[in-house]
Amino acid sequence: MFLSISTVFAGSDIIVGVHIYRFDDTFMAGVRDIIKSNADGLGDCKIIVTDGKGSQPTQNDLIINSVKNGAKAQAINIVDVTAAPIVLQKLQKLGVPAVFFNREPDSADMPDEGWFYVGAMAEESGRLCGGMIADYFEKNPTSDLNRDGIIQYVLLMGERGHQDTIYRSEYSVRALQERGYRMELVAAETANWQRVQAQEKMSSWLNSYSNIEAVICNNDDMALGAIDALKAAGYFTEGRYIPVVGVDATAPAIEALKEGTLLGTVLNDAKNIGKATFQLSCLLAKGEEINQNNFDYTISNGRYVWIPYKKVTKDNYMDFER
Ligand code: BGC
Repeated sequence: MFLSISTVFAGSDIIVGVHIYRFDDTFMAGVRDIIKSNADGLGDCKIIVTDGKGSQPTQNDLIINSVKNGAKAQAINIVDVTAAPIVLQKLQKLGVPAVFFNREPDSADMPDEGWFYVGAMAEESGRLCGGMIADYFEKNPTSDLNRDGIIQYVLLMGERGHQDTIYRSEYSVRALQERGYRMELVAAETANWQRVQAQEKMSSWLNSYSNIEAVICNNDDMALGAIDALKAAGYFTEGRYIPVVGVDATAPAIEALKEGTLLGTVLNDAKNIGKATFQLSCLLAKGEEINQNNFDYTISNGRYVWIPYKKVTKDNYMDFER
């Protein structure tokens, strides 16, 4: 089988395997770039970067192959989180530790030793999304189009089983309910984090329902897809507006905030997720003890590095432009 491995050489011979679930994911492309620039900049470890292409069997081969090529630690953005325990058991037999990132294994299924997780608390991003919609309705009560005192919303979800899909969906709605809003789900579907899939779902909902008052999306690419569909249906002109929120604060999302189509997003901090993942896996590869002098982040419960989210709206997007 052809294994697509690209190697980035840095200053030393210690190697870390970096495995991305798929290269064509917008957010993960950003994290990958940060990991590469850290490897280039810090020069402590070389990295072997692989594309799982959305297939766990492919990623398994790539992981094992990188060990054969000398990787002493693995940074894994796992395709299928339920495969994490098996992957880790294999690595433990080979004496190789792992840092999972962005896609969180269920700790109940995992061995006690040999792994870390770097990511963000999904619940927090959900709450921030719900909060932005609540702020909007507070300032614009007439956006309750049918004046029934209930927010009719649609939900565009990420991949099934992903912690960010589950918690962002649940907590965005909860945050609105906690602010006193009654919520009614008009339609919800997964669009697998992808813009085109989201655009298709949103167009079909706009054809089927006339009462949609808010669009909650689990990431920015899907929010942009929803906006594409809304624009095609004549929204964002002549005062026709529906609030849309996403998560990630990607560059195109910031553009949409500027143009006034996207109501808000949440910074999913690729810079720090990438940096923490690289630093930690490089320290593990070198067999060094991790402490406050050599690691810039806090480790909770022996294995979790949590990178905070931040709310991004038209009032503060300038701070997040790249
Ligand atoms: C991001 C998504 C991305 C996914 C990949 C999430 O944290 O918000 O944009 O597709 O991670 O695992």
